[in-house]
Amino acid sequence: MTSPFAEPSDRASPLQIIEQDALDDWCASQSPHVSGWVKSNDFSARLGQALLVPDENGAPSSALAGYGTEATRARGRFHLAAAASKLPKGDYRIVSGLPKERAENEALGWVLAGYRFDRYSETGKMGARLVCPDGVDPAHVAAIAAGETLTRDLINTPANDMGPDELEEAARDLAKAHGADFSVIASTELLDQNFPLIHTVGRAADRAPRLIDMRWGQSGPKVTLVGKGVCFDTGGLNLKPGASMGLMKKDMGGAANVLGLAHMLMQTGQKIQLRVLIPAVENAVSGNAFRPGDILPSRKGLTVEINNTDAEGRLVLADALAYAQEDNPDLIISMATLTGAARVAVGPDLAPYYCDRASFVQLLEDSAQKSWDPVWRMPFHTPYEAMIEPGIADLDNAPKGGFAGSITAALFLRRFVGESPYAHFDIYGWNPADAPGRPKGGVGQATRALLDTLSRYQPS
Ligand code: BES
Ligand code: MN
Ligand code: ZN
Repeated sequence: MTSPFAEPSDRASPLQIIEQDALDDWCASQSPHVSGWVKSNDFSARLGQALLVPDENGAPSSALAGYGTEATRARGRFHLAAAASKLPKGDYRIVSGLPKERAENEALGWVLAGYRFDRYSETGKMGARLVCPDGVDPAHVAAIAAGETLTRDLINTPANDMGPDELEEAARDLAKAHGADFSVIASTELLDQNFPLIHTVGRAADRAPRLIDMRWGQSGPKVTLVGKGVCFDTGGLNLKPGASMGLMKKDMGGAANVLGLAHMLMQTGQKIQLRVLIPAVENAVSGNAFRPGDILPSRKGLTVEINNTDAEGRLVLADALAYAQEDNPDLIISMATLTGAARVAVGPDLAPYYCDRASFVQLLEDSAQKSWDPVWRMPFHTPYEAMIEPGIADLDNAPKGGFAGSITAALFLRRFVGESPYAHFDIYGWNPADAPGRPKGGVGQATRALLDTLSRYQPS
């Protein structure tokens, strides 16, 4: 793998990172030439400002990056990334002003600022490259950046080029790169091997439904990641209106996140026994589409009344979760763009999750803080169980009333898990607007936090 960092070299331009409040003192310690240049260019060390400083002969000699204040930084995520994308082409080495405990995340932000989705059209590349700061492991940051890049690319690729076939191909490539075991159950094999929900949701599409299964690692805790791989979600016969369907290429965001996380875990050589399960389907409309009112069997034996064909994610995940549980892992994690309700509740920046294991919650909250990858805990509120029971079948996939839409979806999934500790992430997977290091488009959520958590997780 080629490094996303510049080779350490004295020829790299020295870069000073300056907080707004520290600018006056800094200027006072500089030559009149430098302090005059800073003033005449209106450099105030505002967050994201960048300035090249020439020597007395006019040749570039160093660069400045504004680091704002604690208050302005609190409004964003990666801070150096904003200045990085404004600096001219060249290599930079940080010589002062970056607190040790922020160095790894800021270095990652710089690398991620260079992300481009250029599969369909040339885009200008970012020219500024960073020499990895002292005390930061470049290989660790590179592994995270590569996982995040994979996640973004998979989500950004439109459904015509990212169907169940191509998602399988991407997972297969990943498995191959890391020497992981890989297998797929597809089409009517799903019925023969008792995955009725995955088959039923995906059968109306031209592109066959399938369950992707990847295993890696010989020792350590058994951790199974399950990702929703709905490559396009029309809503089925309960067709989505155009405005709601527009972004549904990203409905495989859960799969994209677990694959990105899997790359991070394998590339950093974590001591875990990893399994990744992805039900990959397209929720399409045709004569053989499943219908509202249908009552469907599931792998676990529970019957499900379909009250909305647009609540398809919980159906394909149900069979995958039941299958995951049969192996009795030490931890099951599902990631899915499961409900519009989750986005209404917390918006695109936070990853809402459900988990009732205090030890896992504590680790995750700590990791999320540390890695600038925010999560928000939601309740598996058991008193709402009655809402997902229709009376005529064991479960209702779309309770009426619309109360607690993300919670009832999480409770639905929990019915298919048994004894294993379980965490579920109802993510959005999409950045609606450009932000430093996080361009508009597909984005990973909670994967960096989970990498850190899983590096420390001990089954109790
Ligand atoms: N993929 C959608 C959820 C979604 C919508 C995620 C918008 C992110 C943005 C999911 O399959 C869905 O359609 N859910 C329905 C469930 C409802 C019919 C019970 C929803 O949330 O409206
Ligand atoms: Mn849907
Ligand atoms: Zn969906």
